[in-house]
Amino acid sequence: MAQRPASKSRRTRQTDADAPVPVPRSLSALKAEAADCRRCPLYRNATQTVFGEGPARAAVMFVGEQPGDQEDLAGRPFVGPAGKLFDKALAESGIERERVYVTNAVKHFKNEPRGKRRLHKKPNTSEIDACRWWLDREFALIKPRLTVALGATAARAVLGRNVTISKERGKPLPLDNGGTAFITVHPSFLLRMPDPEVRRREYARFVADLRQIAEQVTNNRRAA
Ligand code: URA
Repeated sequence: MAQRPASKSRRTRQTDADAPVPVPRSLSALKAEAADCRRCPLYRNATQTVFGEGPARAAVMFVGEQPGDQEDLAGRPFVGPAGKLFDKALAESGIERERVYVTNAVKHFKNEPRGKRRLHKKPNTSEIDACRWWLDREFALIKPRLTVALGATAARAVLGRNVTISKERGKPLPLDNGGTAFITVHPSFLLRMPDPEVRRREYARFVADLRQIAEQVTNNRRAA
């Protein structure tokens, strides 16, 4: 796996424009800043910013799409149905959720009110790219060795380009922050599968991807 260049300072990261990005001192300071985010219109229909959570020194960062209804109310990522499936898959692959950082590409719940319900809407490219501001700062503070993008929205945010999941899934992809990206499916994709047999098979593939991630982290620790 590519190593982070020693010359990069802990407090800055080069952006596409090659300008150093000022980064707050801590994840809690960054979270407090993000609470007032108005970088795109999505805050208007959301209860709150749902920031990432996990250890500041996590070797692995998981990036989802955006908070859902339950995450929006709780203010925490991956606590609803997709989060429960994610937790199950993590446990089966030997990854402890407490040891990884879990965040989203977009930090407000994009939804369309429909009566008493709020329908999930997929974030568009400009919303994903606007929210990259926060992801960049999470990268700069945490410096994960491995970043796992769950689904196409997360892959767009992490790689800065549109990705076909089936083509890039499971390959280590070098990132300009010195870490490595790994692409897999989003747990919601599994929840939406109507055929139980196909769902079981795809879930097993997802767990196999997570096992591969667990192995890479273990090998990395041994090599360090
Ligand atoms: N789906 C996501 O992508 N993120 C969450 O936090 C919850 C559901």
